[in-house]
Amino acid sequence: MNKGIFITFEGIDASGKTTQFKRLVNYLKKKGFDVVSFREPGGEEVSEKIRKILLDNKSSLTLETELFLYLASRTQLVFHKIIPALKDKKIVVCDRFSDSTLAYQAYGRGLNLKLIRMLNNFSTKNLRPDLTILIDVPVKVSLKRAKNKKKDRLERSGTLFYQRVRGGYLKIARKEKKRIKVVDGKGGIEVTWRKVKSIVDEFLKIE
Ligand code: TMP
Repeated sequence: MNKGIFITFEGIDASGKTTQFKRLVNYLKKKGFDVVSFREPGGEEVSEKIRKILLDNKSSLTLETELFLYLASRTQLVFHKIIPALKDKKIVVCDRFSDSTLAYQAYGRGLNLKLIRMLNNFSTKNLRPDLTILIDVPVKVSLKRAKNKKKDRLERSGTLFYQRVRGGYLKIARKEKKRIKVVDGKGGIEVTWRKVKSIVDEFLKIE
């Protein structure tokens, strides 16, 4: 049985989720919680190597290869880092998790949704976050925010792709209202942070 708490952040590229993720990790540490944080893909020795392949513009990957690499990266992270930390009663905060694969590879790329759900469960031993914060922004806003490398990636995949990913996320969130809290990320960092903080304060019963 896991005794810790598992919190994840989700959202399309350049939604501002990583900024909010970092804020939350600092906030929880300051409050005295025992926190560990990871990013996906990555967060573990082998997973970081897989990340390099996945994010290298020069890698020519089939959609299936891409899917398996994201899953392989996650399995490493789950078994070597997340499960042990949860067993140690830590709060684990993760920048992306299985919902990313559903949103990007299933809704975005069009791979089979049921199959991906199954593979997600298989590669994580059915580990589910206790709380997921979905930072939602329209694709136009994310394109405006994206810089350099991220902009290349966004433009290469195209606006329609990101609209499908965003739509996918919102569908997943509607199905799992209790776990997934949608935060409007259109405002500035501070405005968004206040919303994130209030959700986590309520969840962890922080006064
Ligand atoms: P990042 O920009 O949040 O570090 O994420 C890296 C990229 O990987 C981002 O474009 C989303 C993508 N991704 C997937 O397509 N599927 C996944 O399962 C994960 C974890 C990330």
